[in-house]
Amino acid sequence: MAHVRRPLVAGNWKMNGSKLALAELAKMAAGLADGALWRTIDLAVCPPAPYLYLASAASIGTRIAVGAQDCHAEASGAFTGDVSAEMIAESGCCYVIVGHSERRTLHAESNDIVRAKAAAALRAGVTPIICVGETRAERDAGKTLDVVGAQVAGSLPAGATGEGIVVAYEPVWAIGTGLTPTAGDVKAVHQFIRGELRKKLGSDGDAVRILYGGSVKPSNAAELMAIADVDGALVGGASLKAEDFLGIAAVYRTIAPSTYH
Ligand code: PGA
Repeated sequence: MAHVRRPLVAGNWKMNGSKLALAELAKMAAGLADGALWRTIDLAVCPPAPYLYLASAASIGTRIAVGAQDCHAEASGAFTGDVSAEMIAESGCCYVIVGHSERRTLHAESNDIVRAKAAAALRAGVTPIICVGETRAERDAGKTLDVVGAQVAGSLPAGATGEGIVVAYEPVWAIGTGLTPTAGDVKAVHQFIRGELRKKLGSDGDAVRILYGGSVKPSNAAELMAIADVDGALVGGASLKAEDFLGIAAVYRTIAPSTYH
């Protein structure tokens, strides 16, 4: 069965932005007002947790969905400072990023923890964007596919369906550095991930959107998004300004849907 994958361009604001910066959301929405030009892709912005509710309210009636950057695995309990997937859902979010490399590194999140968080997202009816990616040392040691394969195998929740999850390949050394892998390297990893997803989900693995993330900007987005099995982007720095974010999304105006379907 042929699967149609709608590209997703998602912005990860990390611990950036402010109440005032939510004005960028309005600018993005205004830039997307001509629905006919944008109807073949999905767009999302993931601001810090305190702004989710405001961002969701601001996104109503626009082409932009709102996502969170992390969630706890439990629905509620004595977890001071944490936010559950259910709370994220109630805040109007459609997505939650889990297993971002900054969480894996700075908060020692293992594949088991990431998988539990992804399962919590499914439980709450929120689509998890599950991040995987190798470090520079792992790439230099020729271990990229081993690392990414283990992360995909270990981080996918039980009950995952092709359309219910998103995977983001983000080489750690490409995040916030201005460096990107070659098109050939991106293609090889995305094809490998597709194969792992098919092993796990059968033909449903073809329905999973695999985003590329790591120093995506308007100037390199066209090349990256045209690569086979790249179904969109997870954008950090360049998602903070409406102009850059729209510039990245705009590459899908020139990529024929038949090439990514
Ligand atoms: P970057 O971040 O686009 O600033 O490299 C990507 C990410 O961490 O998701």
